[in-house]
Amino acid sequence: MDLTLAGRVYLVTGGTRGLGRATASCLVEEGARVVVSGRDAASVEQTVSALGDQHCAGVVADNADPATAERLVRAALDRFGRLDGALISVGGPPPGPALAATDEQWRAAFESVFLGAVRVARAAVPALTDGGALAFVLSTSTRSPIAGLAISNGLRPGLAMLAKTMADELGPRGVRVLGLLPGRLATDRTLSLDADEQARRGNENAIPLRRYGDPAEFGRVATFVLSPAASYLTGCMIPVDGGALRTI
Ligand SMILES: NC(=O)c1ccc[n+]([C@@H]2O[C@H](COP(=O)([O-])OP(=O)(O)OC[C@H]3O[C@@H](n4cnc5c(N)ncnc54)[C@H](OP(=O)(O)O)[C@@H]3O)[C@@H](O)[C@H]2O)c1
Repeated sequence: MDLTLAGRVYLVTGGTRGLGRATASCLVEEGARVVVSGRDAASVEQTVSALGDQHCAGVVADNADPATAERLVRAALDRFGRLDGALISVGGPPPGPALAATDEQWRAAFESVFLGAVRVARAAVPALTDGGALAFVLSTSTRSPIAGLAISNGLRPGLAMLAKTMADELGPRGVRVLGLLPGRLATDRTLSLDADEQARRGNENAIPLRRYGDPAEFGRVATFVLSPAASYLTGCMIPVDGGALRTI
């Protein structure tokens, strides 16, 4: 199948590591060009160099900063002359139980994870070509709470409903909006949440495929849903979790 990504241009926030980076790599392999962002300048530079600066531009930016979204869209238009979609990923909220999360933690997570995503979507939409697509990187916590990740459990379902609302509003223009629900893909974030090897084995045993996913396995799904090959897919939440979710 040809994903018809040649020449298309995508923003990938949180694109320097983990799920974002894996998606940026796959998009470039399939012929697209990407603007990747992250807060650390060295990681941005390393990513641009690894993906090739003819296919990849980098922006050092924090999704919690209100100016970031417009900067990213401007970078795509200035550098590549068009915008076809965005994968909106960002570092996950801090772990912890519900009653221990402070106001400050809630506010910081809301600014980067929630409002940061809203702003990127809002800035990208006017620039999107017809047939463009936005994919929010959420979590299986959209459908089922994950113990010890109270802030994620609180924010993701709201973002999922926002994605669904945007799918309704933008569908008539031919723009698709969806959410991706990673389970446990072996990124820095996931590995940092495992207390030890025994905890990891316990987590793996709860996954029907009995292993953590490779970030590239997520990147391929994300690349497909962003591509014109997924042209009738919108308003849906797609788990990439090895079968772990107990809901259908
Ligand atoms: N991996 C999984 O299995 C899994 C499961 C469920 C949910 N998720 C969610 O999926 C998202 C991505 O996870 P991941 O595993 O890929 O995380 P990761 O390995 O920690 O990578 C996060 C990426 O986002 C960037 N980033 C972090 N905070 C940022 C900010 N405020 N503004 C802009 N960029 C930022 C990081 O670079 P800098 O640090 O340099 O900014 C990095 O490029 C997270 O929200 C996570 O909670 C992941």
